[in-house]
Amino acid sequence: GEPLKVALLGCGVVGSSVARMLTQQAGDLTARVGRPLELIGIAVRRAGRDRSDLPVDPSLFTTDADSLVTKADIVIEVIGGIEPARSLILKAMEHGASVVSANKALLAEDGPNLYAAADRCGVDLYYEAAVAGAIPILRPIRESLAGDEVRKVLGIVNGTTNYVLDKMDTTGQGFAEAVEQAQALGYAEADPTADVEGFDAAAKAAILASLAFHTRVSSDDVHREGITEVTAADVQAAKEMDCVVKLLAICERTRDEQGHDLGISVRVYPAMIPRSHPLGSVRDAYNAVFVEAAAAGELMFYGKGAGGDPTASAVLGDVVAVARHRVGGAKGPGESAYADLPVLDIGRA
Ligand code: HSE
Repeated sequence: GEPLKVALLGCGVVGSSVARMLTQQAGDLTARVGRPLELIGIAVRRAGRDRSDLPVDPSLFTTDADSLVTKADIVIEVIGGIEPARSLILKAMEHGASVVSANKALLAEDGPNLYAAADRCGVDLYYEAAVAGAIPILRPIRESLAGDEVRKVLGIVNGTTNYVLDKMDTTGQGFAEAVEQAQALGYAEADPTADVEGFDAAAKAAILASLAFHTRVSSDDVHREGITEVTAADVQAAKEMDCVVKLLAICERTRDEQGHDLGISVRVYPAMIPRSHPLGSVRDAYNAVFVEAAAAGELMFYGKGAGGDPTASAVLGDVVAVARHRVGGAKGPGESAYADLPVLDIGRA
């Protein structure tokens, strides 16, 4: 059939991997979707940068993202940050494109507004890559567990801080040096403050809590503490107790004895956990998310949470999902019917 036109916004660490995979796996993707996916343009901020390492036609690069999004069936947003990403996504939807995004900051700040736009425009909005990179976690929570009651989500959802804490634990390396390495490996945000101060994990926690508890939680609702105050001595003290320091995202739903919802709490802070705990053995820049549901019991998701190819894997999975919907004339779930659960301010309880 006719190709589906795909526009890529952003060509950083993740965007480059997406462009490469779209090109090199074109045959397989066509077979899986039932129609070819045609990359029609890659929006970049600066023209003229050498991108000869990418197996794509150089004429695809453009600085005119605004007009690119009006011509696509599927728009992939991997620019990050709030603007211009938000305006471009809204414009893409208004022109009938389905959107795949990896933008945790935007989804955590303005998710409900974006879902409403997707519903109004009758298009899909998928963002599996926004939380825990390659790990399939959002669709399992949103779809596979939709018939259960999720009670708790506990996660290591920032690769950079896990890498830093792990290096401090195993090599006694300093904080700054470890952050630089995480940057060189492509794990850290452009501004690593977002990682080490816990903003990145807080955005991901807000997204997880929203989907897990069918409610609306934004980054501002999350009690947040980063790892900048964690010292080598803290890590050493934990070690002596057979514990390890991890930056945890904790999302909990609490009920009273009669089963009435009291509300939810969402927190991010460095915690000392036993080395024997499943989350205690998460090394390097790996992520893991532990889910507790009423009927399913305990579930554990583990894998690479950052980096170009792992994140691109999740992006491409979403691209295939939304492309299949377009081929089959269907649409995925919008914002799940939500209840306004109060967000409890219980801090580090
Ligand atoms: N900076 C993020 C991390 C990238 O370190 O986990 C993935 O969202």
